[in-house]
Amino acid sequence: MPNKELDQTLVLIKPDALKNSLTGYVLSQLSEFHTGLRFAGVKIVHVTRMLAAEHYAEHVGKVFYDSLLEYITGNIHYPGAPEKQRVIAIVYQGPDAVRKLRDIAGPTNPHQARDTKPGCIRALGTVAPLKNAEGRIVGERMDNLIHASANDTDAEREIKLWFRPNDIPPAMQGYPTRESGDHFYFIGNRLLTTHEPGSVLIVAPGDIVWKSDLDALQQHFNGGKAGTTLESVVAKYLVNKFLEGKTST
Ligand code: GTP
Ligand code: MG
Repeated sequence: MPNKELDQTLVLIKPDALKNSLTGYVLSQLSEFHTGLRFAGVKIVHVTRMLAAEHYAEHVGKVFYDSLLEYITGNIHYPGAPEKQRVIAIVYQGPDAVRKLRDIAGPTNPHQARDTKPGCIRALGTVAPLKNAEGRIVGERMDNLIHASANDTDAEREIKLWFRPNDIPPAMQGYPTRESGDHFYFIGNRLLTTHEPGSVLIVAPGDIVWKSDLDALQQHFNGGKAGTTLESVVAKYLVNKFLEGKTST
């Protein structure tokens, strides 16, 4: 990004941090006083399976993938309690945002974090045994309290995955936007431009959306080749609208 003041990164305060009442500690560590970074957007998100799968798409097929989705959706720390299953998603902005937050977060594995970087946030995390259906230990799960984007490319993808432009003040928006001239509705795994019973309105004429999202919606609707999945665009519009598994009331 040419203007370093607009550098951005996505942070997620994960369910284990919320359960352990570490939110205040994490926010203090990330404050402008310590990092020189500012809030550009903040929201409480009940993480759907769709959003979780898009966020961690790079880990599909790995032994820890299913437990990673269970973890980020809150099913591990708040089983059976959807009213407590949430993460805090934050866009931080300012020079070198990605590097600064990766640095304060520390290594992915909390054991390694404690060994090599005492004082980093993830040094307060835990590593839990990962069991199969028979209860046999088949690996481990890293409950590491926060997510921070790994690089600028990931930050752009992740911020657009979790946030709509108008979740962020206009002067703080770091990526190109466009005004939609169309209605787009979502039902099942299909996109519509006119309403059908049970479909969800994603975008209406006059809405300001990420340019890349609008391009992708138009390409998906026209059956062309889009550079991104439909779910990666749609997921944020379904956030906090319905309970998991329901796309209409
Ligand atoms: P995030 O900020 O959560 O994306 O972590 P990261 O960027 O430090 O790590 P990465 O994106 O590679 O992995 C995402 C998450 O998957 C981590 O936070 C861990 O919970 C989990 N994970 C990654 N690698 C491993 C691994 O080798 N073993 C296990 N058990 N979990 C892993
Ligand atoms: Mg990562």
